[in-house]
Amino acid sequence: MQNSVNNTFKILAIGDIVGRPGREILKDRLQGIMDTHRIDLVVANGENSAGGKSITPDILHELFSIGVDVITTGNHVWDNKEVFKILDSEPALLRPANYPPGVKGHGWHIVERKGFRTCVINLQGRLFMEPIDCPFRKFDALYDELKDKADIIIIDFHAEATSEKRAFGWHVDGRASAVFGTHTHVQTADEEILGGGTGYISDLGMTGSFNSVIGINKEYSVRRFLTFTRVKFEVAEGNRKINAAVFEINKEGKAQSVTRIIT
Ligand SMILES: [Fe+2]
Ligand SMILES: [Fe+2]
Repeated sequence: MQNSVNNTFKILAIGDIVGRPGREILKDRLQGIMDTHRIDLVVANGENSAGGKSITPDILHELFSIGVDVITTGNHVWDNKEVFKILDSEPALLRPANYPPGVKGHGWHIVERKGFRTCVINLQGRLFMEPIDCPFRKFDALYDELKDKADIIIIDFHAEATSEKRAFGWHVDGRASAVFGTHTHVQTADEEILGGGTGYISDLGMTGSFNSVIGINKEYSVRRFLTFTRVKFEVAEGNRKINAAVFEINKEGKAQSVTRIIT
């Protein structure tokens, strides 16, 4: 429901869901989080939701059924061929918008709810990642196209380097209502409202098993760093948590609060 007391719109952004442990804890706790924080819209990064690698049609619909409204992704979206069946046909499934022209899928989606038109944009950084098109200039082009179609613009900026994420936050400050980083699977404690009114956090963190190395079996991960050979890939079990943030946006499209969640 709209937060009638403050006349604001509250968005829950959920960090990368890793495999079945991430999906199961979200199923158990999402409704409670939504009720506690009076959430109006839920965005979740699903790039690792299918066994750590991408997303499938069944998992997409499972996440929609528990209350997720828009699913963003990142570099791992290409890791399961099942995703190619839904990249074009599911409007609320996004892949980073700055992949080169001709790549399947789409990078933004608008949801109209409670009198607010919210545009979710997915972009990906380039530092220590694939050298795809410039996310900064892609945002500029999308902003020109979308600014009159949406009251609220929020961005999942999927990137490795905090420097690139911070720079992107300042680049869009005053134009976007919120920027949240994903991809590192480690939540940062730098949530703030930038000078122009953009809510910001460098990384939301991860939703999955924390008895792990970023959601993956820790023994295999250690072995990989010891040997630099191909080692089995397996989603970890144990110590499940949800990492997320709540952005409260006012009628002018400015962030009023940013609240980190670890539960
Ligand atoms: Fe991820
Ligand atoms: Fe990623």
